[in-house]
Amino acid sequence: MSELSVQFPVTVHDDMAALSRAVALRIADLAQQAIAARGSFSIALAGGETPRRCYEYLRDLPVDWSKVQIYFGDERCLPVGDAQRNDSMARVALFNYIAIPVDNVHSIPAELGAVRAAEEYAVTLNKVERLDLVLLGLGEDGHTASLFPDNPSTNSAASVVAVFDAPKPPAARVSLGMSTLNAARQKLFLIAGSGKQDPLARIAQGCALPAAQITGAEWHLDRAACPIDTI
Ligand code: 6PG
Repeated sequence: MSELSVQFPVTVHDDMAALSRAVALRIADLAQQAIAARGSFSIALAGGETPRRCYEYLRDLPVDWSKVQIYFGDERCLPVGDAQRNDSMARVALFNYIAIPVDNVHSIPAELGAVRAAEEYAVTLNKVERLDLVLLGLGEDGHTASLFPDNPSTNSAASVVAVFDAPKPPAARVSLGMSTLNAARQKLFLIAGSGKQDPLARIAQGCALPAAQITGAEWHLDRAACPIDTI
């Protein structure tokens, strides 16, 4: 355990493979607990590249996918099937290999444009009493999901927000709002690579970056992501 923070548990894994495997096992365990307790498991997947290996490991773990409802923490406003969409990555890495009912995967309709997609996804999410788990990545500027520093959507109280002028292309996105992310039963950051040392160091120093506004999360890092003076 790193002394990166005193607020929430940080687990440092040797490398990307160990991080990905450990988080996949954690997700499968949380799914089994939720299904045993409430008959279902709802998860919002993280986008970007870091979670890909984790999703690949999930393929072979004992999860009753018929009882899992999959949502997305954010989506890029690109056409359906575009390889740069977060749901495309999850499909290639995971959905194509598991027996999950089509209706259990709730993509964000970001192809409709940010405003309309956010409105429609808010209706979809409204049917979920509370997400069981939200997976989150960390951007080099401290963003998480598509909640970026100094962007008005980050401080919105809306359950799902339309994002414009995102510094990470594409500029137009849709994201679960900060309140929705924080309302989940469990939040779990999956962070890898030396490029994340700077935002992690800034968070450890108390900078109120968007990722730092997620409360009570588990932080899972690989060693490369750890700021030098914290390991
Ligand atoms: C996205 C993600 C974004 C991502 C971080 C980290 O649409 O890109 O939602 O929040 O999780 O930018 O991305 P990497 O895992 O590729 O470093």
